[in-house]
Amino acid sequence: MNIFHISAECYPVAKVGGLADVLGALPKYQNRIGHKASVIMPYYRTQWVEKSKGSVIFFHHLVMANKTYFSEIIEVENNLGFPLYLVRVNELTDRRKVYGYEDDTLRFMAFQQVALHWLHTFSSQIDIVHCHDHHSGFVPFMMKYCKPFCTLKNIPTILSIHNAQYQGEFSHEMNNIFPEFDKNQAGLLDWQEKINPLAAAIKCAYRVNTVSPSYMEELQEKANGLEGLLRAERAKCAGILNGIDTETWNPKTDAFLVKNYSQHTRLKGRLTNKKALCDEFDLSYEKPLFGFIGRLVWEKGADLLPKIIEESLEKFDINIIVLGSGNHDIEGQLENLKSKYNGRYNAHIGYEERLSHLVYASADFLLMPSRVEPCGLNQLYSLRYGCVPIVHRTGGLKDTVIDIGDGGHGICHDQTSVFDVVYSIGRAFQFYKETDYFKRNQIAMMKIDHSWENAAREYVSLYEEVHT
Ligand code: ADP
Ligand code: GLC
Repeated sequence: MNIFHISAECYPVAKVGGLADVLGALPKYQNRIGHKASVIMPYYRTQWVEKSKGSVIFFHHLVMANKTYFSEIIEVENNLGFPLYLVRVNELTDRRKVYGYEDDTLRFMAFQQVALHWLHTFSSQIDIVHCHDHHSGFVPFMMKYCKPFCTLKNIPTILSIHNAQYQGEFSHEMNNIFPEFDKNQAGLLDWQEKINPLAAAIKCAYRVNTVSPSYMEELQEKANGLEGLLRAERAKCAGILNGIDTETWNPKTDAFLVKNYSQHTRLKGRLTNKKALCDEFDLSYEKPLFGFIGRLVWEKGADLLPKIIEESLEKFDINIIVLGSGNHDIEGQLENLKSKYNGRYNAHIGYEERLSHLVYASADFLLMPSRVEPCGLNQLYSLRYGCVPIVHRTGGLKDTVIDIGDGGHGICHDQTSVFDVVYSIGRAFQFYKETDYFKRNQIAMMKIDHSWENAAREYVSLYEEVHT
């Protein structure tokens, strides 16, 4: 099948979170099982893009809200395992950050329209258009009901919901940013009196999936306002658990590590990495090390981190390291704790790919107190690198981490609260002292197969259901 993924992120081109990791891997694995999968994403001024070479394969004068933007599609030379196309729109793309600009609505709308103008020129060769999150949420609607894209009308579309918290909604006053469309269908764009791209995609896509089965169940009850819609569309919805790219995330070959290791050499290898990380952050490699990696937002339970750090450092002889950025208030609190717990706690406030790999390869435990976790990749990387995940049983965390008390390899709690997390840290501290069991558990975790092969096939089965 000829598949086009449309997404705002893709690793290593531009990454904010797990969405990028999925887009950097799923198409590669789909190509390996005999399909042709490509990625279309906006042009950003990231280091990766600036270093890459490409050629312009399409020009278009995009007219949006009575303004004309010069736009082009660039095919980029790469060794990622799939063709990559960047959509460049004058004034709107070419920015350093992926999100966070006042005109994000316009930016992603322009991106989607230019992508469709291009696909329209060779529509007979396309089997599936696969959209990811709200940034490509208008694609299914525009393919079906916008005049300029009439040749795309009967091509099946898929929506993957990576995170239903973010929906990209905006006021109806901005409805002039659409190309000419069938006005009888205007209701498909609306949800709770706003234009909502995620809701429009749920209504218009042929199939909808979330990135874990449990998250799909949870969304039926709680989906930031979309629960009623998801219940109504239940029949076309499924949950497909994400995989991980076992080539990028392989402790045997990972170039970000100080020392590579296998299941058999993990004790020495992990210790060397831990020593290097602890040296860099002025921590003690002899103490059990707990890590947190992620966006510092409410969904991730990051607001509780300062209290969790204080209480657990008062109670247990452990070290803690945090790698993350996001909410400025939380960032400030995490910075302030550094002097109080000098030598026992440290944090890197920012985004650094290298450090994340080193933390998975060094920390003994990884904290994931997420309130909402559609899938979560950190726990999968953590298992693969031999670091025990401590998770709140929710969404994808519930589907991928089983407690050591139930025959699994991680530590689980039922609520995102300081009490529950500190209690779990206490259990982890005891577990760490049971040296033989702890070491055996590392091998067992590292053996678990979370590679993309299975999920790539599951997606293809979903495409086959709708492709005629
Ligand atoms: P989400 O997409 O909701 O942020 P995921 O668990 O799916 O959560 O994916 C997070 C990805 O981002 C992982 O690859 C993780 O290692 C990475 N990551 C998150 N924060 C940072 C950071 N501050 N520095 C480096 N990598 C980070
Ligand atoms: C989102 C979710 C995360 C998931 C990722 C990739 O960012 O928050 O849980 O792992 O998408 O699907």
